[in-house]
Amino acid sequence: MKVDLEVKIGQTSLKSPILTAAGTSGHGAELGAFGDLGKLGAITVKSLAVFPWSGNRPVRVAPIGRDMINSVGLQGPSIKTWSEKYLPGIEKCGAKAVVSIWGRNISEFREAAMEVSNIAEDSESIIAIEVNASCPNLENRKRIFSHDKEVTKELVSEVKSRSGYLPVWIKLSPNTPDIVDIGGAAVERGAEVLVLTNTLVGFAIDTDSGKPVLGNKYGGVSGHALHSVAVRAVNECRLEFPKVGIVGVGGVFDAKDAIEFMMAGANAVGIGTALFKNPRAPWKILNGMVSYCEDKQIQHIKDLNLIDEK
Ligand SMILES: Cc1cc2nc3c(=O)[nH]c(=O)nc-3n(C[C@H](O)[C@H](O)[C@H](O)COP(=O)(O)O)c2cc1C
Repeated sequence: MKVDLEVKIGQTSLKSPILTAAGTSGHGAELGAFGDLGKLGAITVKSLAVFPWSGNRPVRVAPIGRDMINSVGLQGPSIKTWSEKYLPGIEKCGAKAVVSIWGRNISEFREAAMEVSNIAEDSESIIAIEVNASCPNLENRKRIFSHDKEVTKELVSEVKSRSGYLPVWIKLSPNTPDIVDIGGAAVERGAEVLVLTNTLVGFAIDTDSGKPVLGNKYGGVSGHALHSVAVRAVNECRLEFPKVGIVGVGGVFDAKDAIEFMMAGANAVGIGTALFKNPRAPWKILNGMVSYCEDKQIQHIKDLNLIDEK
């Protein structure tokens, strides 16, 4: 039996349900050294702004048990530089790209959306804009954009107004009890896909020195610790919004983790921390999902999603 790997998320068809998560596989086609990026649903580019950004002071990434804590601080080139230096490599290997954007205020997000949509007019690789709404809003006491319903509404409306034909995806923070309401606010204003979730805020201390392990003190916890939290977020949002596209992200290390996300209601799954252990993880996970479908006589991988989307 040949398993059909195609999935639909919002209005977009993906070759397979496996994506890379923003910020975990570089800015372009770096991962192409380990497998065929054209076989993945898409790569999600590390969050970009209209300006270059140097990020936080080191140490930026540290292991915590089996997991990771990071405060990279969105370091990266400007969108324009990215399009000149990295996009050609993505196009060359036939990969699709979801471009994650960030800003310090809503108008910087709007500018970023406009730049990405202009670039996308000449690139078949770019399939969506992902709004990284889990960063601090400098105009609102540094509150995280997606911790506030009204701010999320305005953010999505403004990005949508400049995103041209590109669908708008939004990546939400799990550090709020209101993720379903916030997701609803984003959907109401036209977000086609909810990406669930970004990292959990944590703190790790080096007990020899008594100092924080990260230069920035607090950071984002990713990996196994996040998995059930993200599966719950996916399930709650799926039950509330039967038709919206959902990407599950958080602690996917093997095919079982990815299948669990789909059973909870995700249409696609993002791989992040697992890439630091094994850069071939996306292909290994996809192959594992195919074997599972073969064993269970499931012909279309999208049918792993147990929740009826009608
Ligand atoms: C080193 C590192 C950098 C990240 N950078 C970004 C980023 O630029 N934008 C973003 O939306 N998420 C970023 N994330 C969050 C991941 O995309 C993902 O949501 C999170 O790590 C949970 O998935 P995982 O447990 O599979 O890693 C980053 C995560 C890590 C570990």
